[in-house]
Amino acid sequence: AYVVTDACIKCKYTDCVDVCPVDCFHEGPNFLAIDPEECIDCTLCVAECPVNAIYAEDDVPPGQEGFIALNAELSRIWPTITEKKDPLPEHEDWAELEGKLQHLKR
Ligand code: SF4
Ligand code: F3S
Repeated sequence: AYVVTDACIKCKYTDCVDVCPVDCFHEGPNFLAIDPEECIDCTLCVAECPVNAIYAEDDVPPGQEGFIALNAELSRIWPTITEKKDPLPEHEDWAELEGKLQHLKR
């Protein structure tokens, strides 16, 4: 499956959801999660993300392996999102920052 990682937190551009053929994105307050049981590894979402937050499970950047379990957990709790919406108001300030996990809202 593909995995949403740190860069999405507090940005949530949502360009990714428009292209997913199986509607496997789920939306929380400031992050999206991919349901690993629904994702068909089509790769379409990867290029859509302006901050390159989406990786194959086997290719998650070092230190971000925890996002694999996090996507699985949160996608079970959060509702599906299938249409693009505006990014979060503070997206520009947070787009370049790393290590945002402490800011993830559930
Ligand atoms: Fe959806 Fe394809 Fe991205 Fe998986 S890889 S989340 S199926 S767009
Ligand atoms: Fe997040 Fe990138 Fe999608 S910032 S909402 S993974 S387009």
